[in-house]
Amino acid sequence: MYSHVGERLGISALVEDGDLYLKVGDTQVEIAAIWLRDSCPCPESRADNGQKLFNIVDLPADTRVERARVVGRSLEVEFAPDGHRGVFDVEALITADVPPGLADARNEEAKRLWRLAAEVSPVWNDWTDYLADPAPALRALVDDGFALVHGVPTDLGQVVAVAETFGFVRETNYGTIFDVRVEENPVNLAFTGLAISPHTDNPYRDPVPTLQLLHCIHNETTGGESGLVDGFAAAKMLRENNPRAFDVLTRTPVTFRFDSTDAHLSATMPMIGLDQSGRVREIRFNNRAMVAPRLESSLAGEFYSAYRTFAELLYHPEAQLNFQLDAGDCLIFDNTRLLHARTAFAATGGRHLQGTYADLDGLLSTLQAFEEN
Ligand code: OGA
Ligand code: ZN
Repeated sequence: MYSHVGERLGISALVEDGDLYLKVGDTQVEIAAIWLRDSCPCPESRADNGQKLFNIVDLPADTRVERARVVGRSLEVEFAPDGHRGVFDVEALITADVPPGLADARNEEAKRLWRLAAEVSPVWNDWTDYLADPAPALRALVDDGFALVHGVPTDLGQVVAVAETFGFVRETNYGTIFDVRVEENPVNLAFTGLAISPHTDNPYRDPVPTLQLLHCIHNETTGGESGLVDGFAAAKMLRENNPRAFDVLTRTPVTFRFDSTDAHLSATMPMIGLDQSGRVREIRFNNRAMVAPRLESSLAGEFYSAYRTFAELLYHPEAQLNFQLDAGDCLIFDNTRLLHARTAFAATGGRHLQGTYADLDGLLSTLQAFEEN
């Protein structure tokens, strides 16, 4: 056993049974030897870019801490049985004492939920201001689930340029971009003048496109108002009011399908997807694309009752934020969390949106880069 007090920081290192303990005042942080060795930043262990140069099988299975001492801000460690040495930032070791997954930006805990439309303040960002500094709008997109931009040039294909301000387009069978306007033989009800109730897009895809953009080229029709609903907030409410129904929707796999002449897509997932800690992380809800689940009759009753209860929360008029998309407006939203809807519009009137998909991982990466600079 070897211990030493880091005088400046008041941190002491203690080795017991081959593992390391850092004492800071009255608290003690336990650090497993194998984790410490796996995290070693020495040039033998990591390239300049931070990527690891060894594999788990390269480490002795009985890796232990032999000696450790705090010197200033550093922790010097000697491992056994191979005598490997590493120097660690002692403060970083203490702050790294966070359960994995807590930093995930995609679950309900990382979000600003809005159960009622009145609880969220939609901000219309001007395109020129947005281009000069996209960070505030992108931050709202991550926190509230959506961002709105107006003044986007109404050139066809411009929605791709919007997506490229933060990430990469996800091409699908609908194309790089898709036109939302009345079509003669629509493959999808979106391409009619019918009302579309709140839904997430493409639930029949795995992985699902996690972001959606809708850019209004022109809109001279009556009707065709847009709506957004926070699916995470509704799921949270369901868990509070009816935990049994919540449980059923998180456990029952549901198949979503899309068929056209050139596409046969299907994915089977629960409507409410949870992470390993039970936090809501993904909603799939689409009345048009859901295959009626063929369940044994006692389960069917329970599933349909839970589905109805969740739908009632999602379809509650006060849950839906309504606004009109006019020429040059662009809506960007988190398709794993928010449901979107539109009211019916006159098929003869002119309404033309262009849409595309993108993904949250690219957005989160871009936002982090913006916020760090
Ligand atoms: C869609 C859709 C909404 C609208 O294309 O996915 O839901 O406002 N469109 O037309
Ligand atoms: Zn849609």
